[in-house]
Amino acid sequence: MSETKKILVTSALPYANGPIHLGHLAGAYLPADIYVRYQKLMKNDVIFICGTDEHGVPITIAAEKKHTTPQEIVDYYYVNHKVSFEGFGIHFDNFSRTSLKTHHRTSQEFFLRLYRKKLLLTHTSEQFYCIQCRRFLADRYVVGTCPTCGNPDARGDQCEKCGKWLEPTQLIEPKCAVCGTQPILKQTTQWFLPLARFQDQISAWIDSKKNWRDNVKNFCRGWFQEGLEDRAVTRDLDWGVPVPLKNHGGKVLYVWFEAPIGYISSTKEWALKMGQPDRWKDYWLDPKTKLVHFIGKDNIVFHAIVWPAMLMGRGEYILPTDIPANEFLNLEGRKLSTSKNYAVWLDDYLRKFPPDPLRYTLAANAPESKDSDFSWKDFQSRNNNELADILGNFINRTLSFVERYFEGRVPAPGAFDPLDEELVKFLMKAPEKIGRLFENYEVRAATRDLMEFSRFANKYFNDQEPWKTRNNNTEKCKTTLYLCLELGRALAILWYPIIPFSAEKIWRMLNLSGTVQDQEWRSAARLSLRPGHRLGNSSILFKKIEDSVIERESARLAAIAAGQTSPQPEKKPEIRPDAQKTADLKAGKDKTMDKLSIDVFKKIDLRTAKILAAEPVEGTDRLVKMQVDLGTETRQIVAGIAKAYPPETLVGKTIIVVANLEPAVIRSVESNGMLLAASSGDYLSILTVDRDIEPGAKIK
Ligand code: MF3
Ligand code: ZN
Repeated sequence: MSETKKILVTSALPYANGPIHLGHLAGAYLPADIYVRYQKLMKNDVIFICGTDEHGVPITIAAEKKHTTPQEIVDYYYVNHKVSFEGFGIHFDNFSRTSLKTHHRTSQEFFLRLYRKKLLLTHTSEQFYCIQCRRFLADRYVVGTCPTCGNPDARGDQCEKCGKWLEPTQLIEPKCAVCGTQPILKQTTQWFLPLARFQDQISAWIDSKKNWRDNVKNFCRGWFQEGLEDRAVTRDLDWGVPVPLKNHGGKVLYVWFEAPIGYISSTKEWALKMGQPDRWKDYWLDPKTKLVHFIGKDNIVFHAIVWPAMLMGRGEYILPTDIPANEFLNLEGRKLSTSKNYAVWLDDYLRKFPPDPLRYTLAANAPESKDSDFSWKDFQSRNNNELADILGNFINRTLSFVERYFEGRVPAPGAFDPLDEELVKFLMKAPEKIGRLFENYEVRAATRDLMEFSRFANKYFNDQEPWKTRNNNTEKCKTTLYLCLELGRALAILWYPIIPFSAEKIWRMLNLSGTVQDQEWRSAARLSLRPGHRLGNSSILFKKIEDSVIERESARLAAIAAGQTSPQPEKKPEIRPDAQKTADLKAGKDKTMDKLSIDVFKKIDLRTAKILAAEPVEGTDRLVKMQVDLGTETRQIVAGIAKAYPPETLVGKTIIVVANLEPAVIRSVESNGMLLAASSGDYLSILTVDRDIEPGAKIK
């Protein structure tokens, strides 16, 4: 047995300013989740860390566009992201938020450490200021023409077209992104990270990384050739982590300075939730930890150059071991565009399809060494012709054969013929072979090999012709089906990192104990079914997707691409009272009497809800603000239970809420529903359910 490895895996913290789309999933989340699931089966000590990136100009701009506050935006999208990731089985050990106190403290401490080591310098320079809006224009608040490629819509921080990392003052014909006014130059002082000083150290460090992907190394080489320049790590903004120095004059830390520190803060929060507050140090301070950052290619400079420089400067902490950056995913041959709504949004997808077919399609097309494309037609054919016709068909035909002719019990095998031997040999090698690909972040190749293996299994079934041997060679028929069931068990384990929902379903259909998640990767190659074992109920593993369904999705994208539909109004946090419901309820309330009629009682919409997030309401020691999943929607509710339940202990519980209560504002926080609790004097117990039931179930 090799020694257990300690691995800390992160995915880029998504900006909490809009829903997650397919490109994000393919770039930073799915490959990481696949890697982590594999490492968990390898029984390595791995944790998977993420959270929302809640500061910076992308958030304040989103808030301004939607005429709301940054807080409201991030609260909404934190839950939206969490729910989407859960729906896709992207299973983080911790999903934090950069607005939490732990993060503010951790990043301020980081800043101070660099400051005391004289690794932060102040420069006074001229920066854009909008007279109309009366503020300094940081980053994306300025738009203009890119000096490198001439793109007229470049943003002040980066040109999306050529990828150039910019300073707003480099833009040609700059304009204020909010009001369009041409900004003036005004003096301001910021703290700078002296990146130039780190160039030699960082380029030597990157050179030493023999296994890193070429895209990452080449990209960095380009930067070194140009020469690294010192970069400002503070901004004149009022949304963010305040600079922890006196006389900072309302400055905050630059979002790209504090966000990566979020990886540390989120690990701290994880340790706290585990009840072992120092456990984060086991990872961040131990040079034996493998630190792996999964990102999209637009994040390379920050993860491979700026962040390592910060870590080197600070000292003590480990540096990234691997940065498997992915290229971009296009959609039906075009670039995804959030602003034009030319995208497939995860929340929307999940309302229409199960998660595994998309996980499979994106894994098979992973944009590893070059940009790749997603098309609905390809999605349909991967689902119908590969998942359903190959893997699903193999599992389903095996199970129904055994159900039909062997009373649903594992038959006892006889002697192996050459074909059986070949199959077993193939199986013995599979975990090693596929494992090596997962280990090297080669999701595409692993997916291809797994489908090859499934095809081989299907062919084995055909070649052995059990429907014939059943009549003339029962011994052989039993051996064939025994091996097919063993293969089913092996496939469940081997496919688990890529399509975990279907893998667990195969496991249940085989009626095996525990879950795939608890198994050991190499046990896939161990023949271990007990003859006579009773199988479970089987059902179709993958449903085929109709042409009409796919055509509707393609047509929607084509219309957007042709400019025929205006971009859908962007989803806005919906926290307004439902007038009709409120009126109905009021009507019921008016008929006050000692005994209620059943009709009045029926007007109270009681439902189960799952708590997704909970945090104390600032400035109170009694109130908790919760985001709850009501099945069809996510709501915020506030309840006075903090003394009885520390907020972090509430997450994951299924509670009972009055869903049609008039919204109320409690301590300037909106509450959209009421949680039920029993109390006896000071003692309090919230009501929960007696067994597992989905959120949104009606109580009657
Ligand atoms: N929010 C950034 C983006 O979506 C990624 C931040 S990654 C971190 O591009 F390291 F800074 F957290
Ligand atoms: Zn302006």
